[in-house]
Amino acid sequence: MSAKDQKKTAKVNQSWGGRFSEQTDAFVEAFTASVEFDQRMYRQDIAGSRAHARMLNKVAVLSDDDLSAILKGLDQVEQEIEAGEFEWSVSREDVHMNIEARLTAIIGDAGKRLHTGRSRNDQVATDIRLYLREQIEHVINEAKRLQQGLLGLAEKEADTIMPGFTHLQVAQPVTFGHHMLAWFEMVARDVSRYEDCRERMNMCPLGAAALAGTSYPIDREFSAKELGFTGPMANSLDAVSDRDFAIEFCAASAMLMTHLSRMSEELVIWSSAQFNFIDLPDRFCTGSSIMPQKKNPDVPELVRGKTGRVNGNLISLLTLMKSQPLAYNKDNQEDKEPLFDTLDTVRGSLRAFADMIPAIECKHANMYAAAKQGFSTATDLADYLVRKGLPFRDAHEVVGSAVAVALEKELDLSDLSLDELQGFSAMIAEDVFDVLTLEGSVASRNHIGGTAPEQVRKAVIEAGKRI
Ligand code: ARG
Repeated sequence: MSAKDQKKTAKVNQSWGGRFSEQTDAFVEAFTASVEFDQRMYRQDIAGSRAHARMLNKVAVLSDDDLSAILKGLDQVEQEIEAGEFEWSVSREDVHMNIEARLTAIIGDAGKRLHTGRSRNDQVATDIRLYLREQIEHVINEAKRLQQGLLGLAEKEADTIMPGFTHLQVAQPVTFGHHMLAWFEMVARDVSRYEDCRERMNMCPLGAAALAGTSYPIDREFSAKELGFTGPMANSLDAVSDRDFAIEFCAASAMLMTHLSRMSEELVIWSSAQFNFIDLPDRFCTGSSIMPQKKNPDVPELVRGKTGRVNGNLISLLTLMKSQPLAYNKDNQEDKEPLFDTLDTVRGSLRAFADMIPAIECKHANMYAAAKQGFSTATDLADYLVRKGLPFRDAHEVVGSAVAVALEKELDLSDLSLDELQGFSAMIAEDVFDVLTLEGSVASRNHIGGTAPEQVRKAVIEAGKRI
């Protein structure tokens, strides 16, 4: 080999440089590298390599000596990374080639045999699945901690009366516990979406190689089992190409964040001076650098704001995938940052919520007073008249006129005298005051899913069994 040729070979990328005659442009090298963000999958990459090596050995493509060298070498690489001693290099492009290069530097030729019957395409598809599978576990655990917090608060505030709203106008009285259980149900569906996603995702791409499979007598069931997958993916082109599992995770996350954002909105409103329903402990709030009196509900505001990036990440991935021909395309390298950002955001938001919810303090008197305003028991009076025999539409009309008079007098319906009430309908008797109270109103909605304190307590027990 001439000196010129030698120099050329030394400079060109070792993993694929064979057919290249000039070195990658320095900018292009950095532009196409993913190591800065995909190195967080190093444990999954190493686990995938261990499984692949064991499989190659089982089908007699890799010798016992090579296998033990590879396994030992991978242990060392993992330790180096964990100790912060590993030198990540952009010129080695991604996590896969960085690890393989270091392995080969440690154990020599055996390291170069690891990639037999494998491609980075099935390797990366495997790594992301393993990574996401593990992360979903953390997400689900945080979500369940939030659910526990919601149940605790629901139980504690089962009797607490507040106004229920439609159109943000006082509608009917509800219990605060009931409201917390509504949030619980929203999160419960989010958890089940994550569980579905995890189930569908848990199939192994290894063996798909670049796109068409490999000519070695591989045992795909074996490597799938080694890695805890349900089984091998059925089609090699699909296995290296689709990122629908990541999109699904991002969609479930967008839904969860939308729920957290709605809760945030209510927390912000409730903690305002105008509502003054709750107190968020100081540790979840911050002050203002100019207005000394301020205590701002930063945590819910920030979670509400972070919903934007999670929604954006979903759109990024959908747009990334659309129009990609089979099979692998470099576009797919762009899947990681939106996915990782979504994971980090969702985990952080859930953690903040799970910590904050049990610490919420209700201002009972303010909630009660607000429920007294706005004629929240008007429907109860109509229902009362229906029970006495009046058709509902007529009852609606009668109560409407009573509300108009009460409005004029600046009184609640329950503050009108029996005489005054009887002026609207002769069917009204002394027992009307049982239904005109807030307590009577909530207690009467005593069926599955209703707001009665008794139901809330039952629902808390039932919900607890589902977590
Ligand atoms: N870093 C790449 C990615 O994230 C790994 C797969 C590269 N495969 C390839 N044929 N260039 O998708």
